[in-house]
Amino acid sequence: MKITRFVPSVLFGENAFDDLNAWIDKLYPNPQQYTVFVVDAVHRTTGLLQRLRPAPQDLVLEFDAPSHEPKTSDVDALRDRIVAEKGSELPRVVVGIGGGSSMDVAKAISVMLTNPGSSADYQGWDLVKHRGVPKIAVPTLSGTGAEATRTAVLTGPVKKLGINSDYSMYDHALLDPKLIETVPEEQEFFTGMDNYIHCVEASHGSAMNALGRPFALAAKASVENFFLKEKNYADFMVGSYFGGSSIANSSVGVCHALSYGIAFILGYRHGLANCIVFNQLEEFYGEDVRTFKAMVERHRVQLPKRVTKDVTPEQFEKMIALTYMLERDLVSTFGPEFKKALPPEKILELYGKM
Ligand SMILES: [Fe+2]
Repeated sequence: MKITRFVPSVLFGENAFDDLNAWIDKLYPNPQQYTVFVVDAVHRTTGLLQRLRPAPQDLVLEFDAPSHEPKTSDVDALRDRIVAEKGSELPRVVVGIGGGSSMDVAKAISVMLTNPGSSADYQGWDLVKHRGVPKIAVPTLSGTGAEATRTAVLTGPVKKLGINSDYSMYDHALLDPKLIETVPEEQEFFTGMDNYIHCVEASHGSAMNALGRPFALAAKASVENFFLKEKNYADFMVGSYFGGSSIANSSVGVCHALSYGIAFILGYRHGLANCIVFNQLEEFYGEDVRTFKAMVERHRVQLPKRVTKDVTPEQFEKMIALTYMLERDLVSTFGPEFKKALPPEKILELYGKM
């Protein structure tokens, strides 16, 4: 039984951010209860943090997304801080404001306020037992689709793997295209490509169905238009939301499986790691890789070359094992016999080209 899920309500429009407090009051009309805002630390310098208007009882937690991708220890520490200040009282809502990392941290906190233990215990699929606290996504970077997916990607003590659960999906999203206009160009490119690659992988994969496909195709077109024709931020932002909605109901594929090894062992961030891998996947994704290369060229993006040249045989072994851990994605691309289509030698050959 496959149930399709979308974020049930969206507040969209230029300067919608100014209506955030009013929306929270309308959705959860209990002003005595506190709200948790999880804000990307980058917004200390963009001025967005200063535009927040928290009530005295609210908690504003910063996540230092510019310095590192989220770890399970970050989520646990922030959850512990909330519990230390508020005891067993739950917030009326958790608001995640920022890029994919900060939105993922907010998702995970919402779930970890109602589920015991460490967030590392829930890395995987459908391991979360109890509904989280309600949550609102406010993306300030477009492309990860985190505002619309079930996934909160976290690096734990032993693996980099998302908490994937119906309970980790946002209940609401506030999409204000003004918030993404000032993103640095390089970051805009790599997160835009994350969306592009999600949509390519989803639409080629067997996990896709007719309900998700139009979202993937519209999202893919929005990225192509943005980077090859005209930068329309409203379309680009909707493209991210559509891409997330598509991936929430399908699966990524071989590119994401291979990119986890690159990210985990070599430390590249997710968007860049995907681009390094996708650049070498023409045999699987043909025309879409050629379009990707046109976007890279048009924006004069320098992809790092020969990133695996100093990787040791032991590290390669680990990268192969990490790739195979993403079994679901490999099944979507290759079917249940994915190890025949992608044996360890083939993985090594592909990594060798990167
Ligand atoms: Fe991704």
